Amino acid sequence: MKLISACWNKIKRHPILVIPLFIALALGLSVLYRYQAEHPRDYAAIEEHFKYGSIGSEPMSGLPYWIWKVLPVMFPEKIPGGDDYRAFGFLYEEGHDLPVGVSKRRVQGIDFVWLNCAVCHTGTVRESPDAPQQMYLGMPANNFRLYSFVQFLREVALDNRFNTDNVLAAIEAMNGDLDWFEKLAYRYVVVDRVRGSLIGLRQQLAFLDQQHPWGPGRVDTFNPYKAIQFHFPMDQLPREELIGPADYPSIWQQRPRQGMQLHWDGNNPSVEERNKSAALGAGVTPVTIDLKRIKRIEDWLWDLKPPPYPKPLNPTLAKRGEVLYDDYCADCHGKQENGAYVFDTQRFKRLGTVEPLQNIGTDPGRLDSYSEMLAANQNTLYAGYPWRFSHFRKTQGYANMPLDGLWLRAPYLHNGSVPTLRDLLEPAANRPTVFYRGYDVYDWHKAGFVATVAQEKDREFYRFDTRQPGNANTGHEGKAYGTHLSPGDKDALVEYMKTF
Ligand code: HEC
Ligand code: HEC
Repeated sequence: MKLISACWNKIKRHPILVIPLFIALALGLSVLYRYQAEHPRDYAAIEEHFKYGSIGSEPMSGLPYWIWKVLPVMFPEKIPGGDDYRAFGFLYEEGHDLPVGVSKRRVQGIDFVWLNCAVCHTGTVRESPDAPQQMYLGMPANNFRLYSFVQFLREVALDNRFNTDNVLAAIEAMNGDLDWFEKLAYRYVVVDRVRGSLIGLRQQLAFLDQQHPWGPGRVDTFNPYKAIQFHFPMDQLPREELIGPADYPSIWQQRPRQGMQLHWDGNNPSVEERNKSAALGAGVTPVTIDLKRIKRIEDWLWDLKPPPYPKPLNPTLAKRGEVLYDDYCADCHGKQENGAYVFDTQRFKRLGTVEPLQNIGTDPGRLDSYSEMLAANQNTLYAGYPWRFSHFRKTQGYANMPLDGLWLRAPYLHNGSVPTLRDLLEPAANRPTVFYRGYDVYDWHKAGFVATVAQEKDREFYRFDTRQPGNANTGHEGKAYGTHLSPGDKDALVEYMKTF
């Protein structure tokens, strides 16, 4: 007290002293602010928030912004088929320095970037090879090669050129605008720490080396989750659990899905838990999850409509298809009626329930990857919070899901093993054994992406071999699934399904 009153007396006598005092205070506060507060970048429009906003994945899983920037410059040779993030299928828009699906947040004075929902749930379509790319929010990320991106990070971790001096020199060469604080942090903490955690990731995800690449549009949903969130001893798990590639699903119209058993295997009937669990997949943790910003997305997804099919349809053919669809398909999938999808589970008794594997006969990989043990662990997540997970269950089959926005959901089935709707109506033996994924030009006749093109300019597409584990294109065939119908009937069904 004495000291304060002595100072105060001094200032009263020499008012000029207030200036250094003020500066000291301002400096102190600014350092405190840098260290304590987190500053995600926010966007007023919900579409921008979805594409670029933060869900809280950056602090624990993210890369410091400048490391994100320099990695492709330092290690272009480790990027298959390109020399920047575009090669992994990240989508860039004019005026944005980060791609869709990557957000930025300042944590303890350092800018970090990492993934959000849009990276796996935003895709593109081209009408023809020369047409511009049209982006659709909420459709599966048909371009995004998460496996290659993760493998890139696991590779650079090992490279001894990844050190403080080289990283700082590379940032300098890119005219990186690090301030004095960031420079110090990068020099003494950041680079070493990031490399250390990438080496950790390398070990945790060692099982990836036993898998084949997922290719564009797919992820092994639950095996990385077991390793990263729960530290399962991956090398001791049964082999059939370890290959579970799944297509990214569409995420429109979540409200009418509430209570349906969804995820590909129907392991969770709660939309909120599916959203929060998805956020964990993007790298948030129960501590860093940004519920407020995820809720904005959740609220928007409740009633977000899928984009309508953009081409003229043949109404007579579609009508004929609808009659067939009512007979064969609607009870399991619901249907499109009067311009809207009908999700009524009273009317369509099997919609949103699980079809046992022995009936549906599709690839067992994704189903087997989800184990009792994982369900038990997931239901401990967020313990002590009102939103503690409690709905995850092991199932014995795949879900009878609604088919809204179907035209944009190719390739089809949970593992994306059938390129077009028309192919899905053939018996498995007649479906393509090998085809290409990652090309976004649309096949307007068969409904799906053109799957016969291996390369466009210097871009190679992913050769999908249905004979590999996890990739089988079997099942969903036989009388109940319309694969015995005449070619004309099948065309009619496809025409009707384009209206979804
Ligand atoms: C790393 C890619 C990835 C990210 C990031 C991601 N998802 Fe997903 N999402 C998936 C995959 C894959 C599935 C299907 C899971 C399965 O059943 O195997 C899925 C399923 C869903 C589903 C359930 C769809 C259905 O009908 O079964 C919803 C809803 C969803 N995600 C919303 C979100 C939201 C909201 C975010 C951001 C908070 C998000 N996702 C982030 C990959 C991702
Ligand atoms: C007995 C219930 C049942 C019937 C009947 C049925 N399906 Fe399915 N359908 C399923 C299940 C279960 C899946 C998911 C299988 C998987 O992904 O492994 C599925 C998947 C699909 C998909 C892929 C969806 C996507 O996003 O990839 C389409 C398309 C489809 N069905 C169309 C049809 C059509 C058309 C008919 C009628 C000719 C039909 N189904 C009949 C249960 C059924």
